[in-house]
Amino acid sequence: MPILDPYSLELFSRNPDQTRRFGMRFGALIEPGDVVCFHGDLGAGKTTFIQGVSQGWGSIDPVSSPTFVLINEYRRPDGITLFHMDAYRINSIYEAEDLDLERLYSTGALLVEWAERIEEILPNERILIEMKYISEETRRMTFIPSGEKYRKTIDRFRKRSFGV
Ligand SMILES: Nc1ncnc2c1ncn2[C@@H]1O[C@H](COP(=O)(O)OP(=O)(O)OP(=O)(O)O)[C@@H](O)[C@H]1O
Ligand SMILES: [Mg+2]
Repeated sequence: MPILDPYSLELFSRNPDQTRRFGMRFGALIEPGDVVCFHGDLGAGKTTFIQGVSQGWGSIDPVSSPTFVLINEYRRPDGITLFHMDAYRINSIYEAEDLDLERLYSTGALLVEWAERIEEILPNERILIEMKYISEETRRMTFIPSGEKYRKTIDRFRKRSFGV
């Protein structure tokens, strides 16, 4: 966990619905070309948050957990796709390279659970969301932007969520 810089945002969720609502608000700010990485243990709430993101994105596809699918696709009515990858079962970087992720985030946006597993092939500029189990229904979410574009995204998210 890096030291919290002034561009990062930390917030707490008290239940799964609140996590989904934060996700929805965040999803409304995601744009084609964006890459968002998720770190956090099993059950930390990554998929729950992403369910909200796909709604906020305006997905017309049903939400499902990608546990058995490597990459889920959430299309908007305008045809732009939000790709949701779960890298948990990626066994080698060669396997990951074959997925040609650059093609995905050059046309749509990309969310990656267990992003640490494929670190080498992800762009340096991205948003990292670290999710941590605090207690049964409480989770801590830390949003860490890398690069100017993503600092603005987090800034907008903070303002929309808290007005400051
Ligand atoms: N505040 C909360 N936010 C999110 N999930 C919560 C919260 N409180 C309880 N939960 C529960 O924790 C679980 C989170 O599961 P989820 O699949 O979202 O985690 P995950 O981080 O995607 O795990 P995995 O690494 O296995 O994919 C769900 O069962 C959810 O109901
Ligand atoms: Mg998950």
